[in-house]
Amino acid sequence: MSTPLGSAKSLVDTDNGEISREIFVNHDLYKQELEQIFGRAWLFVGHESQIPKSGDFFSSKMGEESVILTRDRAGKIHVFLNSCRHRGMKVCRYDEGNTTNFICPYHAWSYTTDGRLVGVQDYDNLYRPPFDKGEWGLVEVAQLANFHGTIWATWDKNAPSFEDYLGEATFGLAGALRAWDGSDGETELLGSVQKWIVPNNWKFIAENFAGDNLHVVSHRSVEMVGIGPGSNGRRDDYGEAKRAAYPGGHGIVYSLVPPKKTFVQYSASPVTSDYFQERWEKRLEKLGDQAGIFPLIGTIFPNMSFHGQQPRTLLLAHPRGPQETEMWRFYFVDKGAPAEVKEFLRRYYIRYSGPAGMTEQDDMENWNYASSASDGLIARRHPYHYKAGLGRGGKDPVIPGHVTTKEAPGTEQNPRALYKRWAEFMDAPSWDALR
Ligand code: FES
Ligand SMILES: [Fe+2]
Repeated sequence: MSTPLGSAKSLVDTDNGEISREIFVNHDLYKQELEQIFGRAWLFVGHESQIPKSGDFFSSKMGEESVILTRDRAGKIHVFLNSCRHRGMKVCRYDEGNTTNFICPYHAWSYTTDGRLVGVQDYDNLYRPPFDKGEWGLVEVAQLANFHGTIWATWDKNAPSFEDYLGEATFGLAGALRAWDGSDGETELLGSVQKWIVPNNWKFIAENFAGDNLHVVSHRSVEMVGIGPGSNGRRDDYGEAKRAAYPGGHGIVYSLVPPKKTFVQYSASPVTSDYFQERWEKRLEKLGDQAGIFPLIGTIFPNMSFHGQQPRTLLLAHPRGPQETEMWRFYFVDKGAPAEVKEFLRRYYIRYSGPAGMTEQDDMENWNYASSASDGLIARRHPYHYKAGLGRGGKDPVIPGHVTTKEAPGTEQNPRALYKRWAEFMDAPSWDALR
C-alpha cells in the first residue's frame, strides 16, 4: 500500500534523519493512519483499577472511535465498540459508572455487560421471522490483553500477542507499572482521567515521550521556579540516563539509580518522604540489582506514553485530525499508600502534568506553534531534522534494546525508531508483512 504522496518510507528517511512535514499536517495521510495504524496496532484502553466490580465501565477510545471497557457479571473484562447495532447510537454516554445493561437511548435495544443483545422493542410482533439476537451483539475487539493491570486491545485478529508486540520493551513497560516497592499490581488510578484538546498532530506527543531529550531546555523556567516535590522545589537527581529504542517503534528512557541511594525528593511532605524511603528499602530487598532501574518516560507505539516513576502517570494521545489531538492523563498511586501521600502526589502530579500542569504547558506551547508553522505551502517543502546521534549506541549489558548512554544523551534515536515503524505500518498490507 502506498500513501497519497507515494510510499510512507519515502516521507520518512530515518537512515538520514529527515522526515517530511506532510506526515504531521496532511489530511489524506491522517485518514490512512486511522486505518493502517489505529485499526491494527495494540492500543491502551484503560486500567483494571477503573473497573474493579462487575458492571463497572469506563468509556475509552481507540483511534477516533468510542469504546466501552467493562467487566461482566462473571468478572471478565471486555472492550466493545460503543455503537448500537441497530442504527449506530452510542449505547453508553457516560464517562464511567456501573450498570447491569447498556440500554440504547434511540430505540431501546439493550445489551448485557458481556455484549449480548437481550432486549429488542416489540421483538415478537415485529420480526417475522425472528432474527437471531445472538448475531447482533456489540462489536467486540479482536484481541484483548491485561498487562500488569493495563488493558490493551486491537481490532486485528492477526496481530501478534501483546508481549510479542512489545518485544524487548516488555522489560521497560513492566518496570514502569510496578508499585514503588517493586511489587506487581498494587497501583490504582487517582481520581479519574484529565481530558483536553491540543491543536497539533498526535505524533508530536508520541515522539516527545519516546525520548526527545533536547527539548528539556524549554522547561528551564519551570525548573528554576521549582515545582518539584522536594522542600527546595527540586526533583531528585535520578542518576545516569540510558535511551533505548525498539524495532516495534517503542522508545523508553531509563535511569539507573545507585542501590544505596536515599530518596529525599518528597521532602516537602515528611510523611510522603518516609513512605518512599520505606518502599525503596523494600524494593531493594525484592529486586536487588534491578531495584535502581527506573523507566522514567516512554512511548509504546503508537500513542500511549508514560512517566514511569516521578511522577507516575500515563498519557494517551487520541487522534482527532491531522492537527488536533485529545490528551488523556491517568495518574497512579500505590493502593496502600497513606491518604497524605496520595494527596501530596495529587497536587504534585497536576502541578506538573495535565492541562494546567506547568511542565506540560511548556510542551503544549511548543507543539502548538511548531504545528501551525509547519502547515503552509512553503513550510511543507522542507523536512524536519532528526539527525542527532545518528549511528550512535548499541547493545547495553543492563538495558535491552538499542541503547545510547551518556556519550550522546541528546540522541534522537527513539523518535527515529518510532517513525521507522510508523512508515512500516503505513505501507504494509497486513500483519504478516509487519512481522
Ligand atoms: S440505534 Fe440503538 S436501538 Fe436504534
Ligand atoms: Fe517536556
